[in-house]
Amino acid sequence: MLSNKGIILAGGTGSRLFPITKAISKQLLHVYDKPMIYYPLTTLMASGIKDILIITNTNDRRNFETLLGNGSQFGIDIKYANQESPNGIAEAFLIGEEFIKDSLITLILGDNIFYGSNLTNLLKDSFLRNIGGTIFAYPVKDPERYGVIEFDDSNRVISIEEKPKFPKSNYVITGIYVFDKKVVDLAKTLKPSKRGELEITDLLKIYLNKQKLSVNFLERGSAWLDTGNIDSLHEASSYIRTLEHRQGLKIGCPEEIAWNNGWINKKQLLKLSKPLLKSGYGEYLIELTK
Ligand code: TTP
Repeated sequence: MLSNKGIILAGGTGSRLFPITKAISKQLLHVYDKPMIYYPLTTLMASGIKDILIITNTNDRRNFETLLGNGSQFGIDIKYANQESPNGIAEAFLIGEEFIKDSLITLILGDNIFYGSNLTNLLKDSFLRNIGGTIFAYPVKDPERYGVIEFDDSNRVISIEEKPKFPKSNYVITGIYVFDKKVVDLAKTLKPSKRGELEITDLLKIYLNKQKLSVNFLERGSAWLDTGNIDSLHEASSYIRTLEHRQGLKIGCPEEIAWNNGWINKKQLLKLSKPLLKSGYGEYLIELTK
């Protein structure tokens, strides 16, 4: 079977959160009760991906390693790579070339939080299809801030436009993408944009021109949360807090997903709970075993 890997892109500048992110990566900030990177990590884990590359800024890498180690505590394998400077999202495929090899690859941005039932199934479907590129669309009220997708009656992509003045739909491209193994060679053909970045939109346009770009739609009941500025970060924390209090279930808990997937046993889960008892997180893990 084709190997299936994931990349979390967790570099960037975080300038819209300054001064908070002057000395720490945005993806290490907390969203309610856990570090932001737990959310994209668990999105990958829930879809069955166990081989993960985390790309960070050189200065922040050590902190990510302290937090997540080699992933074996969650029954997964985490590797790390540096992005010297924020040269664009598509650079992930150049940095990750050795890691990707011949695999199907899912890229998720380290500050993207997804919640809802259908993303996992959509991801699994796209893994089975295993052709070209797949994007995941979500309706928003301010599409002009994002990459906007125009599509026809049979949901085929017609165009994608980055931050258009006059959006052709209110469906925008979220920060998770699935690509076949050709992505590395195609990323190598990209030239930096006017703002000096290797643009994911340009890469998607190559797939689109080859008629190899599919779009999946996230259910309206699902959530795609922004954490880029201080208000959206605060709102994301409030959203997670509200759901967790209401349901008594955690969102984005890697220990729980590892346990549900059968990647760790009871003894391992209880061991993970020990250092987390004072915050209540550990109690939650213990309850899972009962
Ligand atoms: P952005 O929000 O576009 O950029 P940023 O995180 O640097 O924030 P700001 O605009 O406030 O300066 O990035 C989206 C995500 O992609 C975020 O998780 C960081 C990541 N990213 C990289 O890791 N490297 C890059 O070169 C770019 C452009 C983004």
